[in-house]
Amino acid sequence: MKRKNPPSLAKPPLRVIAVANSKGGVGKTTTSLNLAGELASRGYQVLLIDLDPQGNATAALTKEDLPASTGQVLVAGGGLLEAVVPTALGTLWLLGTGPELRAYAKQLPEQREDYRNVLRDVLMKEAGGFDYALLDCPPSLDTETLLALCAADYYLIPSLPERFSLDGVKRLVGLADRVKETMNPTLHFAGVFFTRFNANKPSRLHQDIVAAAKQLFAGQVLSGVRDNQALGTAQRYAVPAQTQAPESVGVLDYRALTDELLHLLDTRPLSTLYSTT
Ligand SMILES: Nc1ncnc2c1ncn2[C@@H]1O[C@H](COP(=O)(O)OP(=O)(O)OP(=O)(O)O)[C@@H](O)[C@H]1O
Ligand SMILES: [Mg+2]
Repeated sequence: MKRKNPPSLAKPPLRVIAVANSKGGVGKTTTSLNLAGELASRGYQVLLIDLDPQGNATAALTKEDLPASTGQVLVAGGGLLEAVVPTALGTLWLLGTGPELRAYAKQLPEQREDYRNVLRDVLMKEAGGFDYALLDCPPSLDTETLLALCAADYYLIPSLPERFSLDGVKRLVGLADRVKETMNPTLHFAGVFFTRFNANKPSRLHQDIVAAAKQLFAGQVLSGVRDNQALGTAQRYAVPAQTQAPESVGVLDYRALTDELLHLLDTRPLSTLYSTT
């Protein structure tokens, strides 16, 4: 792919959204990819940062070698714009990674005392030209997720409508509350939503879990995403679902979720971490 220059002009405010859940396989990467793809297809300049050593978002977006990876940028405390690569969607950019991220993340606390702010500092210095940054977190509450919560204006939790799934959601909200109190006072909970459900035959369990979530997180349960093969296929073949299957129910559901998120962001006060005013 021909290299283009990533946006570097100041165009505040950047909005940073972490997609997180300590549980595995709940749709974090699918959500990061599809929200990023949907925002990019609306003309926004979007940066997707792969913070998961599994590198699934990276594999879904590029087959090229990376000039530098997430871990290298974090350890160097810069070099973001040289490290990002373009994707098939013109305004979507990727800071990608492979398994080496875990070792880099382990190094960070030894390297600098304020390591928790390293991602936020890099974004503040270099990401002003983007409209949105999506942070795809690993299935753990390790350093990578902590860095994401310290850098984010918002965090979003995808969850499966399964037994015990709300335990994972509560754990993450607990960590985010502590981050908000001690490190990032402007962190907001964007909401939780359920993925991979069968809209034609919602199970009793699904209905009970959604009801329990609504009780726990009143007003913060967002519209869900149906189970849809097209989302998995697009990811496997490294093509954006928006272009591959634009009318699939998965793409439509992520479009609705994007609308809901943008509305939420619009109705929040503008004083975000990355605002220059
Ligand atoms: N709405 C959906 N319909 C059908 N398949 C889906 C849907 N959402 C996700 N999947 C599939 O479920 C699997 C897990 O999704 P995904 O990789 O997004 O989860 P994750 O939370 O990022 O996982 P991990 O914790 O390992 O990073 C993938 O194979 C993905 O293609
Ligand atoms: Mg993932």
